[in-house]
Amino acid sequence: MKSSRQSHNTTRVRYEVSAHGAAFGGDGVARAPDGRVVFVPMLLPGERALVEVVERKARFDRAQIVELLTAGEGRRSAPCPVYERCGGCNMQHADIGTQREIKARVTADLDRRVGAFSYQDTLNATAPQVVGGAEFGYRNRVRLHSAGSAGFGFRARSSHDIVPISFCPIAAPEVNELLNELGAVQRGSLRAGQTERDPVELSVYGAQGRVFRAGTATVEVLGFEFSFPVDGFFQSNLEMTEMLIREEILSLEGGSHALDLYAGCGVFTRFLAGPFASVTAVESHPGSVAAQRLNLADLQNVTSVEARVEDWCGKEGFGRSYDLAVLDPPRAGLSGTVQQYLTNTDIKRLLYVSCDPASSARDVGALIRGGYNLRSRRVFDFYPQSSHIETVTVLERE
Ligand SMILES: C[S@@+](CC[C@H](N)C(=O)[O-])C[C@H]1O[C@@H](n2cnc3c(N)ncnc32)[C@H](O)[C@@H]1O
Repeated sequence: MKSSRQSHNTTRVRYEVSAHGAAFGGDGVARAPDGRVVFVPMLLPGERALVEVVERKARFDRAQIVELLTAGEGRRSAPCPVYERCGGCNMQHADIGTQREIKARVTADLDRRVGAFSYQDTLNATAPQVVGGAEFGYRNRVRLHSAGSAGFGFRARSSHDIVPISFCPIAAPEVNELLNELGAVQRGSLRAGQTERDPVELSVYGAQGRVFRAGTATVEVLGFEFSFPVDGFFQSNLEMTEMLIREEILSLEGGSHALDLYAGCGVFTRFLAGPFASVTAVESHPGSVAAQRLNLADLQNVTSVEARVEDWCGKEGFGRSYDLAVLDPPRAGLSGTVQQYLTNTDIKRLLYVSCDPASSARDVGALIRGGYNLRSRRVFDFYPQSSHIETVTVLERE
């Protein structure tokens, strides 16, 4: 007997659907003629299409468009010539206004379903506001893959193949210059030690006229220099990083003590150290902590701690009180230990920066039930043309 998670035979099952919404990840959501939910990549809300089922589960289908019957107003032809094949982004078929509307709706939907909270009572809105910058030429960080003479490029959509790229419309100009250069090198000859069966990966950070391919990169954020390991974390959209700092950190009232949890190389810490008398920055990646200590060496009021936030909470962080905690965890969000710490500690305000709307919906819901009030929740569009969603949420105690 097949388990409910196994796919059933779907040989050429076709039907017409109209998308009524969008799912986390960007797929259109529709109802099949028998009432089951169907997820369709590249189908926008309001559009109608003939689709073919590619995967059938007990409670839903996944299908692909065979023919678009009614195009939505927000549809456009993708500016990138390899968009159909490349896995680098998945929303170029929608104009930027439609992309941002979808991100707001997806976030509100996750907040209701996963977080069990809405904005109606607190923010008098039905969905978060979206704050955005340039829609192309913004991406400073990329991971390039090489397959010998096939050139450098990105992984193909749903496969491990490499799509060779010499220009990426979402990448920063510095990254595109490198792509162009690498293409020329590849066409000329393979580099020493590299064969077609020995693919290489390159982590690249390009910004402010320079491109870094390994070791340490240095960039300026709002007039301050930050160094970081190219293979460690650093925000991949500098314009939006500056906007976030200006709107959410520099506008803060300040106070006596602030926390920067998951602090990376100390970008947010630097701007907290002005309005707050002292700041504690907690980060677990040794390379990022070393960079943080160098980046903030001129500040006397910062304590830099190398630890997992979960471990720090139960020791140094225990029993203290703070005016503010900035939280910027990886995709998985806050563990139960950290959620408990935040609800059991005397912290007046939380600024929660998240790159995953599902884990942030879960965590914000738990923090509201733990005694915080929702003050604002916005989408900062760090990743135009892709379905990634970055949210920034402010929570306060009475
Ligand atoms: C999304 S990044 C944020 C970095 C920083 N706020 C910035 O804007 O540059 C998340 C950071 O959390 C760190 N990290 C991941 N898990 C951690 C943990 N359990 N405890 C402490 N830091 C962690 C990562 O190394 C990474 O630097």
